[in-house]
Amino acid sequence: SQSWLHGRQPEHPVSFDEEHGTWDVYGYAEAVEILGDHKRFSSDFSTVFPGMADESQSAGNILQMDPPDHRKLRTLVSHAFTPKMVADLEPRIAELTGELLDNVAGRDEFDLVTELAYPLPVIVIAELLGVPGSDRELFRKWADLLFTDPEPLSLNDEDGEQMRRFEKQQEELQPMLDYLHAHAAERRRHPREDLLSKLVQAEVDGEQLTDLQVVNFANILLLAGHITTTMLLGNTVLCLDGNPDQAERVRADRRLVPSAIEESLRLLSPFAQVARVTTIEVELGGRKIPPNQVLMVWLSAANHDVRQFDRPDVFDPARDPNPHLAFGRGVHFCLGAPLARLEGRIAMNVLLDRFPTLRTDPANPPSFMVAPSTLGVRHLPLRTQ
Ligand code: HEM
Repeated sequence: SQSWLHGRQPEHPVSFDEEHGTWDVYGYAEAVEILGDHKRFSSDFSTVFPGMADESQSAGNILQMDPPDHRKLRTLVSHAFTPKMVADLEPRIAELTGELLDNVAGRDEFDLVTELAYPLPVIVIAELLGVPGSDRELFRKWADLLFTDPEPLSLNDEDGEQMRRFEKQQEELQPMLDYLHAHAAERRRHPREDLLSKLVQAEVDGEQLTDLQVVNFANILLLAGHITTTMLLGNTVLCLDGNPDQAERVRADRRLVPSAIEESLRLLSPFAQVARVTTIEVELGGRKIPPNQVLMVWLSAANHDVRQFDRPDVFDPARDPNPHLAFGRGVHFCLGAPLARLEGRIAMNVLLDRFPTLRTDPANPPSFMVAPSTLGVRHLPLRTQ
């Protein structure tokens, strides 16, 4: 069954999850309504999870802020993380992709995730921030830590188990925060051309980011921008593998690569769910929901809603329009979408250029991520002939 891939399929667009004390939202229209209304559906969880939100973690945590504070921070970081900065990365991303794939040249089989999809995004983020390439391995290790929690968020944490897991993760990540702190402080003294320097220098209406905000924001770039992109690359190859006719079409007409990537994002959405908290009583999908309730918005399910998408389970690399929600919607719309799309386009083109055939091996099938909030391949062994 593929049901887990898409979140549970919506019999009802909104339902209460007794076990975790949260609400699941599966419908497209409902998701759009939630993401478009930060007044009724807040990203600030400090009221429901007080223990998880002290100042050291919440400063600069753009994902868990509401306007007007969110707008201020977003404007500041947007001054540093510009579309031009991303576009300028194109030659470097192509070069890195080439180098990583040089390592598998001549092999009959390789794991796409280990060799390309996992290392590429983390190297790109590390270089973008301006940390030394030689520290790549540290970043890989920290990125791994962020994805070891397979449990869904729960409001029923009477035994404190969830809190302990959270605290342990924070502890393990402290060296990364210290590391980023040292680099941010150094850039304040000696600015360079990298994103960390731009973040410490960014100024809007006379306001600047504190070091703590810079560090936590850099942490979010890793958290939000690494594994999601890993999964985007793996999932796109998986979509092509499962649809040989469509794969031929894309191979023959590379103008379809960008729309194939959008279709992969829709069909297998890497960031499968986002959470919001109700600030007042709301009516949604025919249900009355009290204030201070946690809503799990299943982007993966919304992207399969038959009320929105024609033949939602079909991979159509030329689907147009394709208003999927894989990058979210509204004020928190993914800040890294141009970078993810760029990495996807370059990596797919290089793969298609280098390998005339590339297919999964029935004897060595792919494995998948288990965390409910992420959706995608963990290992993807491919045969090159
Ligand atoms: C926000 C998905 C890649 C940085 C988001 C959100 C989604 C998302 C769904 C909205 C969360 C919410 O509404 O609560 C994805 C997917 C990616 C990807 C599917 C890859 C395929 C990246 C990359 C970066 C990045 C490469 C940066 C290097 C961010 C940031 C935010 C964000 C900073 C927070 C924006 C805000 O709160 O205003 N992403 N993302 N993402 N993403 Fe991405």
